Formats: sequence, C-alpha cells, structure tokens
Amino acid sequence: MAPDPRLVELFSYYRDGELHGAGLLLRLIKMMKDDPDAQIKLTLHMAEEANHAWLWTKRISDMGAKPVEIESGYQTRIGRKAIPRGVIDLLALTIVVEERSFARYTEHAKRPDVDAETKRVLESVTKDEKWHMSWIREKFNELAEQQNAGERAEEMVEKYRQIENEVYAELHQREAEAFGPAQ
Ligand SMILES: [Fe+2]
Ligand SMILES: [Fe+2]
Repeated sequence: MAPDPRLVELFSYYRDGELHGAGLLLRLIKMMKDDPDAQIKLTLHMAEEANHAWLWTKRISDMGAKPVEIESGYQTRIGRKAIPRGVIDLLALTIVVEERSFARYTEHAKRPDVDAETKRVLESVTKDEKWHMSWIREKFNELAEQQNAGERAEEMVEKYRQIENEVYAELHQREAEAFGPAQ
C-alpha cells in the first residue's frame, strides 16, 4: 500500500519542529556558557530533540516514503512573529513550545485511527517532553528570580503563548483541510 501523503507531510512537520527545537537548544548552549548545570541539561535535551527528529524520519522511511521539505513550519512561523534575543526570552519561548508538543503528541496518541508504529513513536517522544517542560520551567524561574524579573518574565511567556496559539491555529486549520473535519 502506498504511504498516505497526508501522513508523510504531517510527520515531516513533526520532524521539522523537532529539528528546529534542537537548533533552539544549541543557541541556548552557546548563550549559557557560564551555567554548568544548564550545560549538562541542555546537551541531553538537545540530544533528545535530535533523536525525536530521527524517530519521525525513521517512521516516514519505514512507511516507504521520504521526508518532505517543510518551507513554512511551526517554528519558522513563530520566528516571523517574534525574534527571541536574550536567555530568558529563549527559555520563555521554549516553555511554550514544549508545552504544545507535549499536549499535541498526547492528543495524537489518543486518536482512534493511529497505527501501532506511530503510537510507539508518540509515546516515546511524549516521555521526554515531560522532562523538557519541567526543567526548562525551573531554570526559567531560577533566572527570573536572580534578575528580579518575575512579573516581566511571566509576561514574556504570555506573549509567546499568544503568538504560538495563532501559529498553531493556522497549522491546525491546514491539517483539518487536508484530513477532513474528524481532525
Ligand atoms: Fe521533541
Ligand atoms: Fe521537547
């Protein structure tokens, strides 16, 4: 059976998001050189995002397809609306993006039509996303407190949440059009 091109595209979106996630973490690694605790966690975190990208690539390949190029993916669209510059800024964006990927993968795993292989990938990535959300949030709180920036920092998270909601709604709309109203 020929692979469903809609699924190949969807998994390519997931792959693209994970690759961009790894890129974001590399930026943080370069910016947080004076924090050895963050260096350890960021490196593991980046390795896991890269592995997620691989798991989606492998899933696509196992279906007998190749990943398709995503020109205007999730993170690219967010980047058009806001460019994070400082560490707190980047951590705020990471919090929002991690929360979304956890929620999205959890929701996808519960769909009645998901095949066993895809479900295995979804469950495996979801396990890591839980840890990602919690340690990034802790580090963000720690830095915000150090810089006496609690309120301003929370506003930043809210700003990214708003931007992210808009982008997710756009992509969700596209997905619904491709798959029909059941999505
Ligand atoms: Fe991930
Ligand atoms: Fe993650």
